[in-house]
Amino acid sequence: MKIAFFDAKPYDKPSFDKFAEEKGFKIKYFETKLNEDTVDLLEGKNYDAVCVFVNDTVNSKVIDRLYEMNVKTVALRCAGFNNVDMKAAKNKLHVLHVPAYSPYAVAEHAMALLLTSIRRIHKAYIRSRDFNFSLQGLTGFDLHNKTVGIIGTGKIGRVFLDICRGFGMKVLAYDKFPNKSIENENLRYTNLDELFEKSDIISLHCPLTSETYHVIDENAIGKMKKGVVIINTSRGALVDAEALLNGIKSRKVGAACLDVYEEESDLFFEDNSGHILEDDILARLISMPNVIVTSHQAFLTEEALENIAETTIDNLVELSETGKSANELCYRGGETERCLNNKCF
Ligand code: NAI
Repeated sequence: MKIAFFDAKPYDKPSFDKFAEEKGFKIKYFETKLNEDTVDLLEGKNYDAVCVFVNDTVNSKVIDRLYEMNVKTVALRCAGFNNVDMKAAKNKLHVLHVPAYSPYAVAEHAMALLLTSIRRIHKAYIRSRDFNFSLQGLTGFDLHNKTVGIIGTGKIGRVFLDICRGFGMKVLAYDKFPNKSIENENLRYTNLDELFEKSDIISLHCPLTSETYHVIDENAIGKMKKGVVIINTSRGALVDAEALLNGIKSRKVGAACLDVYEEESDLFFEDNSGHILEDDILARLISMPNVIVTSHQAFLTEEALENIAETTIDNLVELSETGKSANELCYRGGETERCLNNKCF
């Protein structure tokens, strides 16, 4: 099998080379992202599959070109699939993903961002490197007894809520499909309005869909407690960045911890330090003392990279040997879901 691997970074290669070699697969790494301009790089090369990440664009035009070039599979090396036009892919391409590789990596990063922000570790680190040992302005608050609102209680949300309970926090949860069995005296499901009104900290762990797009907008922020801390390690467009910026400027939002950003695709994962940042909202957010931005690194642990590579290659092996994969996605009735019986293709 010949695989075209887009948006390749040095940290991707060791684990993918290891698992691909074991299965006799050939990988060609492209540093560029897959999109309408770059898809023609595959012309005449007889690739069987493309391997893509979160900021590659697999829209209907890209899908049609892949189909014309007889590429049969899009292997996402991530869980989210919001960058793939699943409707357009139906009956043309198999779409595989990695549903779980380390929920701990993302949940632990969310907590790292939260602690950094509320205990001002980012400020203290810079001060002490300059031998400035003043504590002025570094007052934080205890997490113990605070209420955390968790939107999305799937794999990552559940690890995060366990971590929060370890800190003695109370949990309010919202999920389109609540798992009532995890409720107890310190954890209960509620609606979004109550979650917004009562949470000291709100953390997003749901996928980006038409329903969750801008779930945190001006209206939602208006309902929140003064000083609320918002954490987004899921997908940028869950948060209306302009509304968040206004919430911070008005002092309604006490802090924001962002591992993802709506317009991240041309910026994140790259060194832009020598360039003028065109995105005024991101520039303003980064300039705030109470905003921490990391560039979509929550997944980036050794364990996760190993699991991502192994599952991606296993998905392709399973598909080539049996014609289907347990991690295949399909589009049915307006929704994307796991394709269990291969009847959709
Ligand atoms: P999951 O599929 O296990 O859990 C998602 C949860 O969201 C499910 O419980 C589902 O019922 C719920 N949900 C679906 N639609 C909803 C809606 N409209 N409102 C509220 N809840 C809804 O997914 P997992 O593994 O926990 O990942 C969550 C998200 O984290 C992914 O969708 C992805 O966007 C993001 N992610 C970010 C990474 C990073 O490096 N920053 C790495 C991996 C995932």
